[in-house]
Amino acid sequence: LVVSILYVCSKETSDVLVYTVATEQTNGFDRYLDSASEFNIQPKVLGYGLEWKGGQVKSHPGGGWKLKLLKKALEPLAEESNKLVLFTDAYDVIFLGKLDEIVRRFQKTGARILFGAEPYCWPDATLENKYPEVAEGKRFLNSGMFIGYIPDVWKLLTRKEFDDTDDDQLFCTEAYLDEKFREEVQMKLDHKNEIFQNLNGVATEIEISSIEDKEGEGERYFIKNIASRTEPLVIHGNGASKYTLNYLSNYVPNVWNSIEGCRQCKKGHIELETVPPKDVPVVLLSLFIEQNTPFVEEWLEKIHMLEYPKDKIHLFIHNTMKFHVDHVNNFTEKYAKNYVSVKEIVPEDATPEWTARDLSLDHCLAKKCDIYFAVDSVAHIDNPYTLKLLIEQNRTVVAPLLTRPGKAWSNFWGALTKDGFYSRSNDYMDIVHSVKRGLWNVPFIASAYIINSTLLKSRDRTLINFTRPRLDADMAFCSNLRNLDVFMYVSNRVDFGHLINPDNLDITRTEPEMYQIFDNPQDWEERYIHAEYTENFNPDKKELQNDSNFFQPCPDVYWFPIVSPRFCNSLINMMEAFGQWSSGTNTDERLAGGYEAVPTRDIHMNQVGWEPHWLEFLQKYVRPLQEKVFTGYYHDPPKSLMNFVVRYRPDEQPSLRPHHDSSTYTINIALNRRNIDYEGGGCRFIRYNCSVVDTKQGWLLIHPGRLTHFHEGLKVTSGTRYIMISFVDP
Ligand code: UDX
Repeated sequence: LVVSILYVCSKETSDVLVYTVATEQTNGFDRYLDSASEFNIQPKVLGYGLEWKGGQVKSHPGGGWKLKLLKKALEPLAEESNKLVLFTDAYDVIFLGKLDEIVRRFQKTGARILFGAEPYCWPDATLENKYPEVAEGKRFLNSGMFIGYIPDVWKLLTRKEFDDTDDDQLFCTEAYLDEKFREEVQMKLDHKNEIFQNLNGVATEIEISSIEDKEGEGERYFIKNIASRTEPLVIHGNGASKYTLNYLSNYVPNVWNSIEGCRQCKKGHIELETVPPKDVPVVLLSLFIEQNTPFVEEWLEKIHMLEYPKDKIHLFIHNTMKFHVDHVNNFTEKYAKNYVSVKEIVPEDATPEWTARDLSLDHCLAKKCDIYFAVDSVAHIDNPYTLKLLIEQNRTVVAPLLTRPGKAWSNFWGALTKDGFYSRSNDYMDIVHSVKRGLWNVPFIASAYIINSTLLKSRDRTLINFTRPRLDADMAFCSNLRNLDVFMYVSNRVDFGHLINPDNLDITRTEPEMYQIFDNPQDWEERYIHAEYTENFNPDKKELQNDSNFFQPCPDVYWFPIVSPRFCNSLINMMEAFGQWSSGTNTDERLAGGYEAVPTRDIHMNQVGWEPHWLEFLQKYVRPLQEKVFTGYYHDPPKSLMNFVVRYRPDEQPSLRPHHDSSTYTINIALNRRNIDYEGGGCRFIRYNCSVVDTKQGWLLIHPGRLTHFHEGLKVTSGTRYIMISFVDP
């Protein structure tokens, strides 16, 4: 006994041979090797580059060939009684601790061979009753991870003949259930996960915990089994638990912490700056318009703004929507010549989405692309360096994180339900809101992603497609990638862009995007709010302090840039398309009393279904300006029953007689350009004998409605003048 204890204490890790089997360089195998190198473990890899002979292990029993390879490797060592062998699967295993700790814990068990345990009796459930009962922990053997003294493992491997496609787990199970053999080689199971953690069926027992490491170095994550109260050292995503392992591997071993961020991101990273121009990767940029989508013009502009040599980009465009034909045509007319080639599939071709997506992958190969980059019409790539950064990240498949601004909706799923649908991971919200930044291995991505074309070349192309019965194209594609054990990453290392919400776009409206202030407020603002709007609030703005005329053309009449020319033109267009201008008489059926004292030729916002949108605009953009200049008056939200566009023209109604407005304050936005679209016009405040005539398109006048600000509309002498009026807080 004394001898044996001495031996235990002095055991060197060089006396432990670590073996695995990996026929190919899969993403999972890379991860296995990275985790090994984190602890200076140097596994011997068996079968690399050979054809897999172990059968369909994914869906059926098999895997005997793994043990055959191990047997062959151990044959010359069979007598080495002092040596240990640690064997694990490769594609779905990661190390979480040092070899000497693994050995120490193994030796504490008194076993000469120790296998990992799991809650399922697989592959032959009828053997369940033959298993010894256990008071605590998992009862059944899993063959994906074991450790033992070489002579004993040799006895196990030579206990019985077996074929390549026989099941390795069944083979080991039978040995374990043979009581005599079990005793002879002291074969035990790690029921309580002291070393080995098989994840299938135990996800709820697993927790990620962290401890502060050295000061300033960020925390270290480890895996805890809360049922067995252990911290396992090797974990295995056996069977259906691959995505649990993928999730855990975003944190362990030491791949992420809140100070350094994503440690694993740096691995394999390339710098495109250092690549000679001729070797810059050739990209197939595939654009998909599969539904009517607001703000497609901006989407296309952003595509063109990508910082990447256009002479390295082939374009592929699939547009299924007539509504977007002009948008695409404008884009191709303007920019197509800059790209190496452009292939376009138009709505008349009636090519279904999944076919088009498949075709785009073929097209990528035909164009000898290095990188495939898909971008859907909802995916706004705001960061022009996105393509470059994603390529530099150098992963097989990686998506930029995109979210609907301010919402939890994004282009990835953190987890899957059993039947392959959406489920939320614990860290989903932290990732979506970029509380945690990094590169995350996830089971589903969509809307925008790059694929390294080596995947398309090295795998069976027919297995990488977008077609599956009853699944949409993205789900089919991700499901196919998952089946191939291809990792899909989503990156939020920096901000890349955002997602459009296309749900409520009504293309029967004139100017559909004008109605998008609720669904896509950020894009709405970018398109329709004046570029100088925020400057109105800049306390350092010189004019504000020194030249009050600039902002106050008449006493208590203030003047601000508020909407873009595009807004103005769109609003005019909405009204002219509607066309039912009022008669300009005192009778007005649109009003509650049916009478208008000072009538204009106008169209009310509610006549074009735009009143809620307008009120939102008032609340969000006008109210802060009012509060700024008329201090002390706070009405949030502002109310307004009279919101309308007025048309002045010489042959219709050129001017408006002096009047008060039924409002606390009135706003008046000039929608078109003086001396270009019309001549004359303006507003005169009679009490002050002060006129504002040089109105600017998109600028708003704001003034009290009654008592002091008796005013008139000055005569338009040629052309047509449009203004937008609201009587706020009547
Ligand atoms: C489970 C058991 O844990 C495993 O011992 C048994 O052989 C099969 O069933 P599972 O996780 O479902 O394993 O299978 P998977 O990881 O896909 O394959 C097992 C291992 O075989 C891989 O991790 C890898 O080490 C090796 N393998 C498999 C290859 O090297 N090439 C292949 O083409 C397939």
